[in-house]
Amino acid sequence: LDDRALAGRHVVVSAGGTREPLDPVRFLGNRSSGRQGVALAKAALERGARVTLVAGPIEVPPPDGADVVRVESALQMREAMTVAAKDADVVVMAAAVADFRPAQVAEHKIKKSADADDAPVVTLVRNPDILAGLVASRRAGQVVVGFAAETGDETGSALRHATAKLARKGCDLLVLNDVAAGKVFGKDDTEVTLLSADGTVTPVPAGTKETVAGAIWEAVVPLLVP
Ligand code: C5P
Repeated sequence: LDDRALAGRHVVVSAGGTREPLDPVRFLGNRSSGRQGVALAKAALERGARVTLVAGPIEVPPPDGADVVRVESALQMREAMTVAAKDADVVVMAAAVADFRPAQVAEHKIKKSADADDAPVVTLVRNPDILAGLVASRRAGQVVVGFAAETGDETGSALRHATAKLARKGCDLLVLNDVAAGKVFGKDDTEVTLLSADGTVTPVPAGTKETVAGAIWEAVVPLLVP
């Protein structure tokens, strides 16, 4: 561990899932624990970076020393990431952002009617792709890292899907989680493959999210402008 590898750098990491409000008391959420994002923030601090952690709901405490910005919805996360990314050297989108949100947020708690069979229909709309937006507005030299949870299917392997996603999103590094075996969410151990924009594919041995976070920073550091 080179404890100065990120000295003088501002690193921004998103972590956790998002909560998409339906009314003042309800939301649509997901099972992201925030462990990988928090591990990345901690590992960046250990390498000397100034760290901003933009956190949706997370099941683990944020590391001491990080500036923590709490958010709930994808729209709030986009706002916080856009602000934090302005002077960042590295931006990592480790959060599990909801793809959709309810089209309307009811001002008051949605009530059930007297008719026992009656139930509301929730219409969803697409959320913005925060990562793609960060890539589009990044400053010169800023390194942008994305995550992808993929499974292989009849149209191709997880690696093939991830390669296409890296090109589509335009990030510098994509961290591929092959989720076929039902691993990853909420677990302590993980196994990833790193894909660089230059075509390099680096399998990372299975390990804790902390170990994997170290491997991700090792791949990021050479991409930084001196
Ligand atoms: O397209 P997909 O959801 O697989 O892409 C995953 C990557 O994109 C992750 O880095 C995730 O944080 C980011 N993402 C985002 N905004 C969304 C959906 C995903 O930034 N609305």
